[in-house]
Amino acid sequence: MIREFQHISLRGRNSFGVEQWAARLVEFENTDDLRTIFAAGLPERWMVLSGGNNVLFTCDYEGLLLTPVSQRIELLADDGETVRIHADAGAEWDDLVEWAVCRGLWGLENLSLIPGKAGAAPVQNIGAYGCEAADAIERVHFFRVATLTEETLDAGQCGFGYRESVFKHALKGQVVITGIDLCLHRTPRPRLGYGDVEREAAARGGVTLRNIREAVCAIRRAKLPDPAVTGNAGSFFKNPVVEAAVAERLLREYPDMPHYPAPGGRVKLAAGWLIDRAGLKGHRAGRVGVHDRQALVLVNLGGASGAEVIALARNVQERVRERFGVEIDTEVNIL
Ligand code: EPU
Repeated sequence: MIREFQHISLRGRNSFGVEQWAARLVEFENTDDLRTIFAAGLPERWMVLSGGNNVLFTCDYEGLLLTPVSQRIELLADDGETVRIHADAGAEWDDLVEWAVCRGLWGLENLSLIPGKAGAAPVQNIGAYGCEAADAIERVHFFRVATLTEETLDAGQCGFGYRESVFKHALKGQVVITGIDLCLHRTPRPRLGYGDVEREAAARGGVTLRNIREAVCAIRRAKLPDPAVTGNAGSFFKNPVVEAAVAERLLREYPDMPHYPAPGGRVKLAAGWLIDRAGLKGHRAGRVGVHDRQALVLVNLGGASGAEVIALARNVQERVRERFGVEIDTEVNIL
C-alpha cells in the first residue's frame, strides 16, 4: 500500500534531527507499489529515504522521497546448519539481528544496534567490530526505475568493499532496494578479534551468541550517542585508506597511531584518532559538536541546521589535513 505526503517535515525522518522539508514523500511496501509510483513517469529528482541514519539535509528536498515500510523477515531455507533468510527493505536492521540471535543463528551479532533499515545495509555495506553486512548478505533485490523491473544481484556482483557497493556508484539513482537475502549459520562462529568484544562477552558469562550481542550493544551504548536523544548519523567520516609511505611517515612521528592493513598494500587509519589527536574531540561550535566519546561522530546539540553541521565537518577536515596531511571523506550523504 502507498501512503503519500506533500510538503512534509523531515525532522522525525533523519537521525540528525534537522528541520528540512520535502516536496513529496511516498511510503511503499513492495514492487507493485513502486511500479505504480514510477509508471506515472520518472520524477525529475528522487531518492530513497530509508531510516535517515546516514544523511544530512542542508536544504529542503524539492523532489520525491521514497521510504520502504514493509518489515517482513522470513525463513527461506534451513538445512540444519546453513539458514537462509529474507528481510524486506523496511525491516529495522537491529530487529533483524535480534530475530537471528533469538533463533540461534550466527552471522549478524557483531552488527548489533547499528541504526537503520535492512534495505540500506548493502548500500554502504555497514560494518562494525570486525564484520560487515557483506559477510552475510547473499543477494540484494531491487526495482529498476528505468524499466520498472524487479531484479536481483548476488553478493559477488555487488562490489562490496569498506563502506562501498555498486549501489553507491553504477546503480546510484537507478534502483530502489526492496529486500535482502542473508546466509546465517547454526554452528557457532564467534568473531572476537576486535576491541573489547571478547572481554565484554566473558564478563557476561562467556562467548555465547546472546552475550556477544549484549557485549556489542554495551560497547556501542558507551561510545556512541543515541540518535533518539542527541541528533547524529554515527560515523560522520570514513576511516581514510592511505598509501603505505604516508602511514610510515605518520608512524615515525606518532608511533601509537592505530593502523590496519587494507587491500593493495595500503593502510587504513582511524579517522576518530586523527580528529581526537587534532584536539577536536568534544569540541563545540554553537549548536553542533564533535562527540566527546567518539570523535568520528558529529552531534546536533539541539536545533542545529544541516549547514551548521557541514561547517563543523569542513573545519574538522581542514584541521586533520593541516596536522597530518590526510584527507578524511564524509561517510554521511550530504544533500
Ligand atoms: N579513537 C580515538 N579517539 C576517538 C575515536 C577512536 O583515539 O575519538 C581510536 C580508538 O582508540 C581505536 C581507533 O581509533 O584505536 C579506532 O576506533 P574504534 O575502534 O572506535 O572504531 P572506529 O574506526 O572509530 C569504526 C566504524 C564504526 C564502528 C566501529 C567499531 C567507520 C567509519 N566507523 O569506527 O561504525 O562502530 O569501527 O567496529 O568505519 C558507523 O559507521 O556509523 C560506525 C559507528
